[in-house]
Amino acid sequence: MAVSAVKIVKFIIRRYDPEKKEFFTSTYEVPVRKGMTVLDALLYIKENLDETLTFRYSCRMGICGSCALRVNGKSTPICNLQVLDLGTDTVLIEPLANLPPIRDLVVDVRPFFERFKTVRPYLLRPPGEPEEEFRQEPKVFKRYWPLSPCTSCASCLSACPASIDDAFLGPSALMTNYRFMIDTRDAGLEERLKVVGDTIWLCTACSSCTLVCPKEIDIASAIVEEKSILVEQGRIARRIADVLENAMIYHNPLGRLQAKRLEWAEGLEPPLKLAPEVGKADRLLFICCLQAFEARHQEVARAVVRTLRASGLDFASLGPEEWCCGDHVLRMGEKGLFEELAEHNASAFEKYGVSEVITVSPHCYYVFKNEEPYRQLGLTVLHYTEVLAEAIGSGKVRPSRALKGLRVAFHDPCFLGKRSGVYEAPRQVLEAIPGIELVEFGRNKENSFCCGGGAGRVWTEEAEPEKRPSVNRLREALELGVDVIATACPFCTCMLEDAAKVLDVEEKIAIRDMAELLAQAL
Ligand code: SF4
Ligand code: SF4
Ligand code: FES
Repeated sequence: MAVSAVKIVKFIIRRYDPEKKEFFTSTYEVPVRKGMTVLDALLYIKENLDETLTFRYSCRMGICGSCALRVNGKSTPICNLQVLDLGTDTVLIEPLANLPPIRDLVVDVRPFFERFKTVRPYLLRPPGEPEEEFRQEPKVFKRYWPLSPCTSCASCLSACPASIDDAFLGPSALMTNYRFMIDTRDAGLEERLKVVGDTIWLCTACSSCTLVCPKEIDIASAIVEEKSILVEQGRIARRIADVLENAMIYHNPLGRLQAKRLEWAEGLEPPLKLAPEVGKADRLLFICCLQAFEARHQEVARAVVRTLRASGLDFASLGPEEWCCGDHVLRMGEKGLFEELAEHNASAFEKYGVSEVITVSPHCYYVFKNEEPYRQLGLTVLHYTEVLAEAIGSGKVRPSRALKGLRVAFHDPCFLGKRSGVYEAPRQVLEAIPGIELVEFGRNKENSFCCGGGAGRVWTEEAEPEKRPSVNRLREALELGVDVIATACPFCTCMLEDAAKVLDVEEKIAIRDMAELLAQAL
């Protein structure tokens, strides 16, 4: 029995013309039935509307990985993705990114497989060894089995900001290399460490790869584990070692004196309440190292205090007892040092009876919520944008001064958005500021493009401009024609401001933390 169409869905398809070497767009209307997949819709177009449309598929069962495309910005196989599940009346289809286009939606996947081949995705055994059974305990098997079902769909490579640089091996190849490192049958550790080389540090731990993987492989965590093996073996680049040494000696990755940790709060009126002075702090404001020590970011920290005070909140700071939260250190693979930093902060939280922490950086926010020993404290952890959105919603904060005619695009920080699922609070704050026209990046929310600063890359960036995620993102903002990129993360602010310098567009576009914009409107 024929199934009738539920609705008409518009398919906008971005296609590549190999003769003209440029992209163009075709639009089709498809009557969508219940259960129809995106691949079914493309086949409908090819059979009924445009036989020239070219795309790739094979198994139609989610096994071969050949059908992956970008659907409404998300890289994903399309043969088991139902159109009605997308919940939109318009669907944008694009070829995978980070691979050369061939025709229409077909990309050249050879660079993906070449990177994969480099890591030799099979067991490496000593030469001349007699063939015999391998024995393995179930607990060993369980460690690498979740990393094994990769279908080579290349969705992760397409979503990966670090992969705009060909030198980066890519998420699946790095994850697979690690999968064999922890397989007790594999005898190729030395080769596997060598193949990773110096470029693994380009991974920003943004988690885009993990979010898009159809096999739900936690690729981003596997890469952090791989880095931790390199750290254990002392095989780290000098620039990485410098950051880790700073964090070890000075308790902040910048290598500044902890005694100066409170310089950012000088001039605040009334002065910042300090937990070590008052002996107790139910609600704590935790300042990021960048904001504690760098003049540009100190301004943001003060703006956060002004806006939180406007909402009537009482809070204190740990002052010089505040150490780096350890997020970047952990994502660089230095687990022991992370534990040291985290245990210090966690015991300070306990000492001062802290039950709620407001963070300025999404990185502090993420570790306090998700990593031990912080997590076991059962703290209420809030990002300052969540606090301000609530204060605006309840009428405690009323921005009244208009920032007239300002076109603003909000850049989702990965540790706030992709990793923590906080998308609406910052937008609610920006929408409440009179005069601001909020514009969305094409790549937004879960498909947002990383600034390139995570996992310590903010201190170690040395790629040429075209290979920097920050420059790529800034170009996107310039194409949008916005006056301001609003951020809610010190690392995004830092990376994007550097990119504006590199492109020499500081006069054309400003990078502002949301707290600065809100403080200006109060
Ligand atoms: S975590 Fe981000 S930068 Fe690292 S491999 Fe995954 S997508 Fe790429
Ligand atoms: S790791 Fe996941 S997203 Fe990446 S190629 Fe394999 S199946 Fe696809
Ligand atoms: S066609 Fe094989 S995974 Fe989609």
